[in-house]
Amino acid sequence: MRMVELIEKKRDGHAHTEAEIQFIVKGLTAGDIPDYQISAWLMAVYFQPMNEEEAFYLTKAMLESGEQIDLAGIDGIKVDKHSTGGVGDKTTLALAPLVATMGGKMAKLSGRGLGHTGGTIDKLESIPGFNTSLTPEAFKAQVNALGCAVAGQTADVAPADKILYALRDVTGTVPSIPLIASSIMAKKLASGADVIVLDVKVGDGAFMKTKAEAETLATLMVGIGNRYGKAVSAFLTHMDEPLGEAIGNRLEVIEAMAALKGEGPDDFKELLIELAGAITYKANLFSSLEAATKEAARVLESGEAYPKFEAFVQAQGGDLNAFIDTPNLEPVLVRAPEKGVIQSIEALELGLAAMHLGAGRAKKDDAIDPLVGLKVLKRVGDALEKGEPLVEVYARGSFDEAAILGAFHITDAKRDTPALILKKIGL
Ligand code: URA
Repeated sequence: MRMVELIEKKRDGHAHTEAEIQFIVKGLTAGDIPDYQISAWLMAVYFQPMNEEEAFYLTKAMLESGEQIDLAGIDGIKVDKHSTGGVGDKTTLALAPLVATMGGKMAKLSGRGLGHTGGTIDKLESIPGFNTSLTPEAFKAQVNALGCAVAGQTADVAPADKILYALRDVTGTVPSIPLIASSIMAKKLASGADVIVLDVKVGDGAFMKTKAEAETLATLMVGIGNRYGKAVSAFLTHMDEPLGEAIGNRLEVIEAMAALKGEGPDDFKELLIELAGAITYKANLFSSLEAATKEAARVLESGEAYPKFEAFVQAQGGDLNAFIDTPNLEPVLVRAPEKGVIQSIEALELGLAAMHLGAGRAKKDDAIDPLVGLKVLKRVGDALEKGEPLVEVYARGSFDEAAILGAFHITDAKRDTPALILKKIGL
C-alpha cells in the first residue's frame, strides 16, 4: 500500500477499507508516514467526510495504538460519562458520587483544562492533597469499594490521536465531524467502561455551535460506540450560557458540593439528574429511564449523595476540612449597566475572562490559580434593574470589567428561559 494512493482515493471521495485505515494509523504512529502526507490526507478527509464505518475503523485503530484500560477487576457494569467541554461544566464532580450512591460503578478518567474550558482534574486539585494519579490497582479497588474514582488520563491512551490532533491543529482540519468523533471515542473506548453517556454541548461556549452539527456528531459517536459493543447514548445540552453559576476551580467544587446537598443552580441539578438517570438505567440498575431519573432526583434533593462525595475525596487523599476552611477571595461585583432582559450570555467570553484571571490555561504548561473565577448571578431570560449585581469576580487584582459585561446581551424584549436538554440520542 502506498500513502499517496490513499490520499488520492480519499481526495476523490471514495471510502477507505479497514486495512487502509490501519495502514495509515500504524504508519503515523511508527513515524513511517511523513507529516506532509498525513496533513494532505487530513485535508482530503475534511472535504470528503468519512462514513460511519470508516470513522469506526479510525477509532478502533487509534484506540488500539495505545494502552487500553482493563476494568475487569471491578464488579458489575462499569459506567463513564464524557462531556465535549463547556464553560462552568463541573458535572463529573457531583455526578460520580451521585451515580455511586445509586449503586453505579463510575470509573472515570479525566483531563486538564485548556483555553476557555476547565478540566475536572484541575477542579479536583483545588482540594488540598487530592491525588489524581492513581495506580490502576488503586483506581479499581476504589471503584469496587466506593462506587467511584476519578483519575487523570495517562499519556499512553490513544497516542495516534495525539499525533493526528497536533497535525489537525496546524492544518485547519480540527472541525471535521468524523475526525472529532473518532478522536473522542478512541479515548473514551480505551477507558474500558461498558456504558458511556455523552454530553454533547451546543452553542457559543462549545465546540459545536449549532444543534444540527451537534446532532450529527452525537449520532456518529453513538454509532461508533455501539459498533464497538458498548451501550453508548448522548444528550445534546445547551451551552449558550455557562452551566450553573460558578466558573473557576474552587468555586466549581463548592457549587458541586452544594448540588449534592440539594442546593445550588437548577440547570446544573437538572443535568445531574438527567445524566445520572440515563447512566443508571443503561447500567440495568432500573427497569425504566423514568424510574432511574426519578430516583436520581430524589437522591440529589435529599442530600443522600453528599457523604459519598466526602468518602470519595478522602479516599483520594483530599482534605475537605482544609478546603472548607480556606477563605474565598473577596468578590468584586459587576453590576447590570442598564435595565432590561438578558437575551444571551456568551459563555465563551466568560470562559476566556475566567482564564485571564488565572482559572484556566492559555498554553498547556500554564499554572492554574484555584481560587480565582466568576459567579454568574443571572441567567438568560432574567429581568434586570440597572445596577443589580450581575457577576461576582474573584480576582487577585484588577480585571477587565468591559470584557465580562460584553458577554451579556440585554434588551427590552421578552425572552423565555432556554431549555437545557435539547435532545437525547440512544435512550
Ligand atoms: N475533543 C477531542 O478529544 N478531539 C477532538 O477532535 C475535538 C474535541
